[in-house]
Amino acid sequence: MEIRPMRSWIHHSRGEVLRQAGVGRQDLVGIYEDMITRQGFEGRDAYLYRRNEPVKFKRIEGSAAYLDLDGKLLEPTDLAFADGGQLKLFYNPDVSIWVSRRSENMTYTARNADGDELYFVHEGTGVFYTEFGPIPYEPGDYVLLPKGVSYRIRPAGPVNYFLIVESAEEIGFADIGPIGRRAPFDPALLYVPSPELDELGDGRNETGEWPVRLKYDGQYSTVFYDFDPIDAVGWKGDLFPFKINIRDFRPITSDRIHLQPTAHSIFATRSYIVGNLLPRPIEAAPGVEPVPAYHRNVDMDEFVFVHGGTALGLEAPAASLSFLPRGLHHGLPEEIMEQIRKTVKPGDYIDMEFIFVDTARPLLATQEALASKRQQHYLKGKK
Ligand SMILES: [Fe+2]
Repeated sequence: MEIRPMRSWIHHSRGEVLRQAGVGRQDLVGIYEDMITRQGFEGRDAYLYRRNEPVKFKRIEGSAAYLDLDGKLLEPTDLAFADGGQLKLFYNPDVSIWVSRRSENMTYTARNADGDELYFVHEGTGVFYTEFGPIPYEPGDYVLLPKGVSYRIRPAGPVNYFLIVESAEEIGFADIGPIGRRAPFDPALLYVPSPELDELGDGRNETGEWPVRLKYDGQYSTVFYDFDPIDAVGWKGDLFPFKINIRDFRPITSDRIHLQPTAHSIFATRSYIVGNLLPRPIEAAPGVEPVPAYHRNVDMDEFVFVHGGTALGLEAPAASLSFLPRGLHHGLPEEIMEQIRKTVKPGDYIDMEFIFVDTARPLLATQEALASKRQQHYLKGKK
């Protein structure tokens, strides 16, 4: 048995600071709490108490800037065409983020040899028809398709919206510490498919062949069959697709201290984490606020997708996508915090359903992502 190493107790305080970081922040007069953290929020950190809000910079020149995308403007080719595909938005050598808005059954079978694909279902219902068996989908599902697994998506209706995380490294579940094996979700709730072949006849092109669109090193090749390549009548092993819904994730919370977003991680590799900020009670203890301090998460870039709900009572348009580069301060400006303090009270149940991806290597945006950029972040438009 391996015991986790103890955390360092070697911390210093200099000058004016809060006695307990993160507690009593709203009582500071003309001083703003700000943190700089390594390894996400798990490494060495420091809190700085500043005279100005660090997010109030006047302008940025250069590429390290926030991006806020209106996901409703994105038009992957699978929105209009059954033989279309998903749209790449952000990428680095470890992970890429895509959107699919597939409106019809696929006329090909997909197989990704570049990495695992983690689909998050934002809108729509239907079935992932995989060679391990069908996986029905609904909003809030994460559907994990391991690298190389063949599948076809069969939407039940024309309106579907998927956020896709493609991972070069195998995706596993995040380890968020000694909280027991059934928290924050019971692994027995994974939906694992059984073979159930049907004769729906989808997955064929105009000439009646069954093409398999193979993604290899970022390029697409097509392998043609005279039979449906999804034809397995059985499988056994420890490699398989599965799904789990966000309703089965029970957030870890504390009444007396706001936990960092990493406490809400669900999937991880060595190079990024995927997490979800989900409905939960707001911290009720005096002096505790329901958001992190201003921060620079300097070893990671942060990406956020709005699935549903509000940002602590403030409107957050569904399918918004935000990118927050490392090194640049972010956090809610004081005027927005004032609105939140009026809107939500300690102990209220917040309704946010946000999905986040924090990456160790810098994420680059594609031209298609930049083309759907909002001029003003959705929260900053609120007064
Ligand atoms: Fe952040």
